[in-house]
Amino acid sequence: SLLILDFGSQYSHLITRRCRELNVYCEMLPCTQKMADLDWTPKGIILSGSPYSVYDDGAPRVDPAVFEAGVPVLGICYGLQEIAWCHGGKVDPHDRREYGRADVQVVRTGDERMDRLFRDEADSVPVWMSHGDQLSKCPDNFQVIARTDSAPFAAIAHTSKPIFGIQFHAEVTHSPRGKELFSAFVDICGAQRNWTMSTFIDKEIARIREMVGPRDRVLGAISGGVDSSVAAKLMHAAIGERFHAVMVDNGVLRAGEAKQVDEMLNKHLGVNVTIVDASELFLSRLEGVEDPEKKRKIIGNTFINVFEEEAAKLEAAAEEEEAKAKAEGKEQEAKGKYEFLLQGTLYPDVIESISFKGPSATIKTHHNVGGLLENMKMKLIEPLRELFKDEVRELGKLLGIPAHLVGRHPFPGPGLAIRILGPVTRGQVAILQAADAIYIEEIRRAGHYDKISQAFAVLLPVRAVGVQGDKRTYDQVIALRAAQTTDFMTATWYDFPHQFLSHVSNRITNEVAGINRVVLDISSKPPATIEWL
Ligand code: XMP
Repeated sequence: SLLILDFGSQYSHLITRRCRELNVYCEMLPCTQKMADLDWTPKGIILSGSPYSVYDDGAPRVDPAVFEAGVPVLGICYGLQEIAWCHGGKVDPHDRREYGRADVQVVRTGDERMDRLFRDEADSVPVWMSHGDQLSKCPDNFQVIARTDSAPFAAIAHTSKPIFGIQFHAEVTHSPRGKELFSAFVDICGAQRNWTMSTFIDKEIARIREMVGPRDRVLGAISGGVDSSVAAKLMHAAIGERFHAVMVDNGVLRAGEAKQVDEMLNKHLGVNVTIVDASELFLSRLEGVEDPEKKRKIIGNTFINVFEEEAAKLEAAAEEEEAKAKAEGKEQEAKGKYEFLLQGTLYPDVIESISFKGPSATIKTHHNVGGLLENMKMKLIEPLRELFKDEVRELGKLLGIPAHLVGRHPFPGPGLAIRILGPVTRGQVAILQAADAIYIEEIRRAGHYDKISQAFAVLLPVRAVGVQGDKRTYDQVIALRAAQTTDFMTATWYDFPHQFLSHVSNRITNEVAGINRVVLDISSKPPATIEWL
């Protein structure tokens, strides 16, 4: 597998993506990683870009052992400059930043060892540039293998060692030949292309079994979302009965959600799940609260209370079971204690904690669910921490979770409480659940669901006048939201056909008591956010 050393570029994780797409396993570590401390030998090493200049005070420095490891090295942008810096090249601040599309001209040296990085390219390659500094002198023993009009050293190669540097960002989608370039580098490394979801399952199950041992038990919280369900099923595949999941019904779930999760995980997939109906407690604590941050806090804290109480019950039962087995002399069969807590953390959450943040790089630990771990003294187990969302979906399908469930839109932890703009009551929850169910059902029926990143209904606290039958009504308003986004940081609104909107509006106003108007949210993010609270 390949090692990616991250110097803090906003694109670093995309390098991981490109390698994964080629079925090559890779691991990203901070650039401060010492080669001597690695307990595996990479087939090749990629140095990422960085917000730094190589001559900045405190600029991140690569361990020189990288170039002595005898494996191919590819430096991207800052990575190229770092290679040059270490080999006697010269880097200058460029008088103008080069940003955007450019065409690099491939320079064929006639030496196959240097030319093989661009083996699949035409003489001119469209690429994405984003840099301030650039090389002004080629380092010793390197040759130019590509140039642009303004960058004479757009790519370089060592004359005898497999060390390459490229000034442009081959990892971004704006570099349309990026995949071919990484593919050439993978071949130079001789790395195996055998990373698939099914090999991931085997590897991860073995890792979980080794970590948990033959007796310990694992506890997990299920939200109804894709990640926790997939993590739960994987855990069940690894340790079976010794995994137990808890789903807390907080009273602000979507219509029928707790039941659906129970059906799918418990009945269909055989995972131990306890559904705890704590809706009364949550709703009583939410009474009269309008402030969104207060709602979030109450739900987060109440979740911890309920989960811990349930965990204590399960633990007590486990201890009793163990004592009984011992008394009967069946120690071998006894299951142990709940030593581990499962979390469905994904790679994008982890990036935050492994990304290089600056010269004083303290490695941040990412958030665990609302501080559960500190209180519970359990060890954390995160089987999805190497995966992107679409990989989790593929994994879920391989584990037998139905496609319509693994393809579900994300749903926030505080649930419908942040989609009810006024105070949360059972009545308000019921209105929103009914409207949301109609909206989502129609979206699925019309074939829009998989083209939208997140769609939901919002219940507004305003009242408006209407007329139904012969009666004047004074009812609430539902807003329809449908967002399209890749990273949830920015978003645009999805353009439904008018006919569809009119049909959904008719159904909601006719079928949901308490609603006489439907409006459409046509705001992008920014300036709006995806949720209304
Ligand atoms: P915004 O509204 O910030 O939402 O544009 C971006 C994404 O984050 C989700 N979201 C949350 N998820 N707890 C969560 O687990 C929260 O408090 C929360 N607030 C927003 C939102 O649904 C969207 O996917």
